[in-house]
This record gives sequence, C-alpha cells and structure tokens, in this order.
Amino acid sequence: MLRRSQLFVPGNEEKKIRKSISLDADSIIFDLEDSVPEGAKSAARDTLQDLLKQLEWGPKKELCLRINKKGNGYSQEDLDAVTRMEKVDSVVLPKIEDDAGKVYDYTGKNLICLVETARGLVNLPKIAASKGAAALSFGPQDYANSVRGNVASYSSNAGILGMIVAAARSNDLDPIDGVYFELANLEGFKQAAKTARGLGCSGKQLVHPSQIPIANQIFSPSHEEINEAARIVELYEKAEKMNTGALRVDDRLIDAVHYRRAKDLVTRME
Ligand code: COA
Ligand code: MG
Repeated sequence: MLRRSQLFVPGNEEKKIRKSISLDADSIIFDLEDSVPEGAKSAARDTLQDLLKQLEWGPKKELCLRINKKGNGYSQEDLDAVTRMEKVDSVVLPKIEDDAGKVYDYTGKNLICLVETARGLVNLPKIAASKGAAALSFGPQDYANSVRGNVASYSSNAGILGMIVAAARSNDLDPIDGVYFELANLEGFKQAAKTARGLGCSGKQLVHPSQIPIANQIFSPSHEEINEAARIVELYEKAEKMNTGALRVDDRLIDAVHYRRAKDLVTRME
C-alpha cells in the first residue's frame, strides 16, 4: 500500500471531509483528536460515520481515523465508533507509549502509531512490534512539548527520524515523517520531505492540500532513478559473468552493495 501522502482532515468539518474525496492523497486521516474541540467530538463521530457511509470514496485511498487518548489507553467511544465505520482501513494512535495490540484485537484495523512523547520514543521497539501495526510516524510539536523543547528542533530531526525508520523497517512497517506546520513555505516542506526520504521514510503526514503533489513526487522514484538503476543492474550482471565484481560507472565505484540497491528498485518497479 502506498503511503506517500497522508492528509489530516478535521473530523468535525464537513466541507473539508467532502473535499478530501477529490484530493490525490494516498491516505486521508480523519481527525477526532487535536483539531476537534472537546465539545465537538461526539458530533464529529456522527458526522464521519454518516459521510463515510454516504459518500463514494473509491478503492484507492487508505481511510484512517485518528482517535483520542484517554488515560493510558484510548477513548472507548472512539474505539466503538471505529468498529462501526466499515470503510475505515486504519486507526491512527496518537501519543502512543506502549504495545497497542489490544486496539488491533478490538477493531481489526491496521495501526498507524504516532510517537510523540519521550516515553513513546524510549518504548519504540515495543510499539513497533505491536500486533496489527502497519506504520510508525512522529509528531514533532507534541514531542517538543513533552521534552520542553521547540518544534524547530524536532521537525526534520534526522536523529529521531532515523530511530523511527529503524524501528519501522525492522518490523516491516512504513516509516512516515510527521507534519510540517508552515503552510506558506512549500520549499521548506519539500526540503523536509527530501530529508525524510533520504533517511528511508515511505511518506509524510500533511495538513494542507498544497502539500500533496510535493509529497507524492518526493516519495516516488523518479524516471532518472529508475533508468539509472536499470543501467547499473545491466552493467553489473554483465561484469559478474566475466568474474568482475567492482566496476567504474560514470566515475563511481559500483559493486555488490550498489547492485543490491539497484536490483531492489528495479524489482519493485516491476
Ligand atoms: N483537508 C481537506 N481540505 C482542506 C484542508 C484539509 N486538511 N485544508 C484546507 N482544505 C481546503 C479548504 O477547505 C479550501 O477548500 P475550497 O478551496 O474548496 O474552499 C482549500 O483547501 C484551500 O484551503 P485554505 O483556504 O488554504 O486553508 P485554510 O486557511 O482554510 O485552512 C488549515 C488552513 C490549517 C486550518 C487547514 O488546512 C486544516 O484544517 N488543516 C488540517 C488541520 C488538522 O487536521 N490538524 C490535525 C493534525 S496536525
Ligand atoms: Mg499530536
């Protein structure tokens, strides 16, 4: 499943929910948590339930619901709402700090785990090994709050993203970079997405439709990358037959390690 672009949509805003059908994001995350005021959460559950049923979403998008934390677990009302929403594929678990297999057992939905506290980061291995986990992401603002730092130091933080990527990839989950809040700074967004892709992320979480095409582009292999990989595979396999394992291609050393990466891309594209 592609998760290059995961757009958050406030669960109490009917107009944005309707609009999200026509947007080209791989995943839509309907939010019941921080974009919905306390007094509007119950109505948001009802609105989402109706619109999900009523509207034609097509087979392509992953539909996700971000639920609310309550004590050490998650809101029972939200969990029950999830079980009533057939079209929801995945549940997004904010401020996760421990194994979440119980949520999978209760809902049967994929889990997208949002690490955004110091305790969550320390418990990453346990979280990533949760039954039903499909993706791991990082929430820079809540994380900064939890350690009394600031968001500038934690968005695009390579050290932390590297830990998220390692925990995710070692459990066959998608590592997804967190949101970028500066709505008018699309160049900054693009740089953040490039950094995340370079570190191994499959995609990025988004807050505005203008971020979608950029994420889709950055997290897809370009034609040049695909052509280059095909050329490396061809040249390396030819050399290998002559018992050569190290070759010069465009003034770069190519050996088995580069071949494996190129072969992996070529195989995935097929
Ligand atoms: N999902 C769906 N549609 C969205 C959207 C979103 N997240 N953000 C904006 N849009 C729509 C607007 O409704 C508007 O539609 P229209 O042209 O048909 O009227 C269009 O995209 C342009 O929006 P714009 O006017 O630039 O945005 P805004 O200033 O009204 O809203 C935000 C800015 C940040 C409030 C809005 O983008 C938003 O709600 N983002 C998501 C917030 C969220 O979910 N937070 C929780 C996770 S961090
Ligand atoms: Mg958060």
